[in-house]
Amino acid sequence: MISQKSIQEVFETAKIEEVVEEFVRLKKRGVNMIGLCPFHSEKTPSFTVSPSKNIFKCFGCGQGGGPVHFIMEHENLSYPEAIRYLARKYGIELEETVSSPEHLAEQQKLDSYYIINKFAADFFQEQLFDTDRGKNIALPYFKERGFREETIQKFGLGYAPKDWKALLEEAQKRQHNEQLLKDLGLVSEKGFDFFRDRVMFPIYNLSGKVIGFGGRILEKKAKAPKYINSPETEIYNKSKILYGAYQAKNAIRKADECILVEGYTDVISLHQAGIENVVASSGTSLTTGQVQMIKRYTPNIKILYDGDPAGVKAALRGLDLVLEEDMNVKVVLLPEGEDPDSYVKNVGATDFKQYLENQAQDFIFFKANILMEEGKNDPVKKVELIRSVVDSIARIPDPIKRSLYVKECARLVDVEEQLLISEVNKVIGQRLRKLKKEKDREQLPEPGQRNEPFTVEKHPSISEKQEAASESKVAGHEFQERDIIRILIHYGDQLFDQTEKITVAEFILSNIEDVIDDFDQVLYQAISREALERLSQGQAVDPTYFTNHEDQQIRELAVDLLSTPYEYSENWEKKWDIYLNTQKMPDENFVKDSEHALKRFRLKKIVRKCIQNQEKIKELGQAGDVENMMLHMRLQQKLLEIRNELAKELGTVVL
Ligand code: CTP
Ligand code: MN
Repeated sequence: MISQKSIQEVFETAKIEEVVEEFVRLKKRGVNMIGLCPFHSEKTPSFTVSPSKNIFKCFGCGQGGGPVHFIMEHENLSYPEAIRYLARKYGIELEETVSSPEHLAEQQKLDSYYIINKFAADFFQEQLFDTDRGKNIALPYFKERGFREETIQKFGLGYAPKDWKALLEEAQKRQHNEQLLKDLGLVSEKGFDFFRDRVMFPIYNLSGKVIGFGGRILEKKAKAPKYINSPETEIYNKSKILYGAYQAKNAIRKADECILVEGYTDVISLHQAGIENVVASSGTSLTTGQVQMIKRYTPNIKILYDGDPAGVKAALRGLDLVLEEDMNVKVVLLPEGEDPDSYVKNVGATDFKQYLENQAQDFIFFKANILMEEGKNDPVKKVELIRSVVDSIARIPDPIKRSLYVKECARLVDVEEQLLISEVNKVIGQRLRKLKKEKDREQLPEPGQRNEPFTVEKHPSISEKQEAASESKVAGHEFQERDIIRILIHYGDQLFDQTEKITVAEFILSNIEDVIDDFDQVLYQAISREALERLSQGQAVDPTYFTNHEDQQIRELAVDLLSTPYEYSENWEKKWDIYLNTQKMPDENFVKDSEHALKRFRLKKIVRKCIQNQEKIKELGQAGDVENMMLHMRLQQKLLEIRNELAKELGTVVL
C-alpha cells in the first residue's frame, strides 16, 4: 500500500491544470480555465478548471474532482494506479507501507485470479487464430456471423478446444496453481476443462480486466445448453457487472444514454455497426447494482426488447427498480422474431438508429398502453392496471417528473387526474412509513451507507426542499448540517484563531464532537468522523483531501460545495431558518461564518433534544417515576439555558 504521507505529497504537488492540459486544450477565463469536456460530447465548453481550488468540474455532464479523479476517469485507472501515474509525472518517490499479512495474502489471491483469467483469455485467443480447429471451424463461425477481425480482437473473443484438459495442461506447463483455475470455474473439481469446444466471450470489469467467461456452443446440439458461463467468484459479482460495460463506457458518457440489450452477440454486432453505447444484461433481469453502474455514466437508459409480447410483459416487472434510481427509462420493441444482432444486420446501422429514434417510448406510457389494451373490456383488469401504473409512478423520486406522469397517464387510462394523484400519494405514504419503521429498527445506520430513506438527495429539487421544510422546522436539519460540512471542507485548514493557532477544522470538530451522533445525514456524519480521525493523527483537513477522496459520494459533495457559489435569497433565512451572510463574500469571512454556522447547528440539535426530553418528562410523569422525572426536569433546565444563550447570540427567537 502507498503510505498516507506519499499520497498527501501527490495531492500537494499535482496541479489540476497541468494534469488536464495533457488531454484537453484549456483557455483562460477569469480566474478559471475552460475547455471542451473529455467526458461527454459538446461544442461549447462547459468543462471548467479551477487552479486555485485544484479541481475540475463540468457543468454539462456533472463530472468533477481533483487531479487524481481526473486521471482515474480519463485513463481508466484505479485509485492507487492514478496515484502512481501522478507520482511518475511529478517524479515523486512513493513510500510503501507494509500491509497486514492477511490483507496482503487476500490482495495476492485476487491478483493471481486476474492473472489466471488473463492467461486463459490469451490461451483461448491463440486457439482461435493459431490452431487448425480454431482456424477452420471457430473463426469461420464468427466470420459467418459477420464479426470482423478487429471486432473479434476488441472483445477478445476466442475458442476453447475440444480436448478434456487443454487449458489445464497449458496452465500446468506454466506452473500455474491448479486450485486457482478451479476457484475461477475454468477447471472442474474432477480436473477437466469447463469450457470445451465453444467460442469464448471474455467478460471484463470496468477497468478492463477479465473476470469471467461466457462460452457458446458451435453446433446446435439438442442436449447441451447454448451458453455456459463462469460462476460467481470473488472477482466476478454478476449482479454488479454488465457485459460490454468496459468497451461502452466512454460512448455511454458521450451519447448520454445507455442502450441495454440481452445478449453478448447483440452488444458486439451493434458495436461493429458503430453503436457503441451498448451493454447486455446477459439474459437475466436487471439488478440495482447494474443500474447504479450505468448511473455513474448517464441517467438515460434505453432498453431493447425482442418483439415477443409475453416476454415483454415479464420484463416490465423488473423495471420499477430502474425508476427508483431516478433514471429516465425508454423501451423499444423490435419487430417480431428479431433480436438487435439480427436486426442491425438486416437493415444496417442507419435504419437501425432511425428505428430506435422513432420507436422509443417512455417506459411508463409503454406499460400503461400495453396494460390498457388488455383491460379494455374488463373493469377488474383495469383496476389492476391502474394499481400497477400507480405503483411505478410512485417510485419516481422527483416530484416534478411524477406529476407530469400522473397527468399523462390519467389521460391514457382515462381516469380523473385527482384520483391518480391521491392513489400515488397513498402508495408513497405507505412506503415512507415502511421505510421509517425499518430505520427506527436499525437505529444508527452505518456511515457511508447509500440510499438512506430520509437522507436528502444530492440535488434536491425545489419542491422537495419545500416538502422537507414545511414538514417540520425542527426535523429538517439538512441545511445546518450541510453548512457545517461546507465550512469544514472549504476552510478546514485555515487558521480560525491567529494567536492560538487553531484551525477552522479543530474549532468546528471540537465543538460538535458531542453531537456527532445527532447528524441526520449519514454522509455528513461519516465526513465529520473521518476529519476528526485525521486531526487526531495530526493530518491536515483541507479541501484537497476531500476533492481527491476515494469515495465517490464524498468527492462529489466536496466539488459541489467548492464550485457552487454561495447562493441565497432574501426569504431563505425565514424559510429555512438559516443564517445568511449578507456583508462580505464568504471567502473573506470564514471565521465569522464558522462561528455562526456552528451555533446554528448546535441550536438545531439542542432544540431537538429539548423536545425529546420534554416528551420523556411527560412519559415519566405518567408512569409515576418521580425521581427520574426530576432528573430530566433539571436536564431540561440546562438545555433551555443553552438554547436561550445560543438563540440570543444568533439574534433569533426560539418559541
Ligand atoms: N444466455 C445464457 N445461457 C443460455 C442462454 C442465454 O447465459 N443458455 C445469455 C447469454 O448472455 C446470451 C443472452 O442470454 O447472450 C441472450 O440469449 P439468446 O437471445 O438466446 O442468445 P443470443 O445472444 O441471441 O445469442 P446467439 O445470437 O448466438 O444465439
Ligand atoms: Mn441472437
